[in-house]
Amino acid sequence: MTPDGAIATASVRLAAAGVEGPRAESRRLLAHVLGGGRERTLSRGAALTPEQQTQFEALLARRAAREPLAYITGRREFWSLDFAVGPGVLIPRPDSETLVEQALGLNADKAAPLRIADLGTGSGALLIAALSEFPHATGIGFESSPGAFAWAKANAAALMPERVEIRLADWAEAPDAAFDLVLCNPPYIPSADIPTLQPEVRVFEPIAALDGGPDGLAAYRALGQLLPRILKPGGHALVELGLGQDAAIAAMFPGLEILRIAPDLSGVARALVLKKAK
Ligand SMILES: C[S@@+](CC[C@H](N)C(=O)[O-])C[C@H]1O[C@@H](n2cnc3c(N)ncnc32)[C@H](O)[C@@H]1O
Repeated sequence: MTPDGAIATASVRLAAAGVEGPRAESRRLLAHVLGGGRERTLSRGAALTPEQQTQFEALLARRAAREPLAYITGRREFWSLDFAVGPGVLIPRPDSETLVEQALGLNADKAAPLRIADLGTGSGALLIAALSEFPHATGIGFESSPGAFAWAKANAAALMPERVEIRLADWAEAPDAAFDLVLCNPPYIPSADIPTLQPEVRVFEPIAALDGGPDGLAAYRALGQLLPRILKPGGHALVELGLGQDAAIAAMFPGLEILRIAPDLSGVARALVLKKAK
């Protein structure tokens, strides 16, 4: 079968399974089978070998069962960095790049030796992306889930071994007055909404990365107590918000000044920007 024929057949199958963007997903899966970076030249490629066809069909079956593409390929790009991901860790989302953009806006001196913490680091995406912009900064990612911790360790070792420490620890164990910048994308989905999520998320991604308790705000209440303790005087915290959570959350950080709530590229209020007084 030609690559075009394989993509056409796969697209019909993925569409029938309810996958969004079935043609683009089919192309990415086939590009993965044929070897990274070949997506653009697929239509000019030779017919698939029987081995390639068998491998493509196996991956297609996984995607049709709604396993996320990033778990199948084992990779996800975030802030133009290539992260390893798989079962046990949240796939980093483009919306979270809003926190990295805000970190850049807050710290004009790129050479500053910032100490950065990432609370609930998951794949390590936020911490490693932020450190990639500040070459003299160092940081700690706190992660309480052993599965996610292993992915973060692997990404830190591959992408930034000398400036990242990943700790298997509750974020409450972060030290006092230690950080210039704290990043956090907490679990924020109300428990009752989890069964309504896409299967890619609710079946495959770890519940510890999603479930924000009955009202989705449990982690923010904890952060409201924790952040003033672990920030240095004059330090900043950037906390990701879920859709429509901005009004409720603003009152939960009495010990810090709210500088702004920054929107993501879709205009959703996404990043709470906080400052501790000097
Ligand atoms: C929404 S995910 C964010 C992952 C990653 N920072 C990102 O943006 O892609 C939240 C992460 O926080 C971790 N987590 C939740 N509560 C935690 C706690 N009390 N201490 C440390 N990690 C926690 C979860 O295991 C999960 O990996």
